[in-house]
Amino acid sequence: MAEKMHLSFIIFVMTGFIIFVYVNSTTHLVGDKLGWNLPGYPKYYQDWANNHTFVVGDKLVFQYHPGIGTVLHVNKEDFDNCTNRNTIRTYFRGNSTVPLDRPGDYYFFCSVGKRCELGQKLWVRVQGKTSRKALM
Ligand SMILES: *[C@@H]1O[C@H](CO)[C@@H](O)[C@H](O)[C@H]1NC(C)=O
Ligand SMILES: *[C@@H]1O[C@H](CO)[C@@H](O)[C@H](O)[C@H]1NC(C)=O
Ligand SMILES: *[C@@H]1O[C@H](CO)[C@@H](O)[C@H](O)[C@H]1NC(C)=O
Repeated sequence: MAEKMHLSFIIFVMTGFIIFVYVNSTTHLVGDKLGWNLPGYPKYYQDWANNHTFVVGDKLVFQYHPGIGTVLHVNKEDFDNCTNRNTIRTYFRGNSTVPLDRPGDYYFFCSVGKRCELGQKLWVRVQGKTSRKALM
């Protein structure tokens, strides 16, 4: 009997934890209505990023058609120069979801033509989750 209560308590706590994590993660549609496309002005995606708060556990969704867009996850140097010398990961199948699973800076650009130079690039700073850490 005591053991059963103990187990149900654990399940109760774990369920609460899972719901907590679920409720506290946000999926960000990159660029909102524009999606992942050539922006109207070069700083568009940086403005978009400044309008959002990114926390560990969140996801980015890049909405684009395969063949006319890519998402390259790169380091800062490649981001600054629109080069792909040290690509961390390439997404090209369209509508890519990128999990933000650690704190820090994430850099992305589109490797098609001169799109990166024209502003189809995104830098987001992801914050650690202090409340989640406290719970764990
Ligand atoms: C950022 O937020 C401002 C103020 O709400 C808004 O006017 C602007 O269009 C937003 N820009 C982007 C790129 O989301
Ligand atoms: C790339 O950009 C960095 C700045 O982040 C700069 O210091 C470096 O010289 C550039 N490298 C090339 C090959 O252009
Ligand atoms: C991407 O998502 C949009 C909106 O949900 C949808 O209209 C489009 O067909 C999707 N494209 C691909 C390649 O999955």
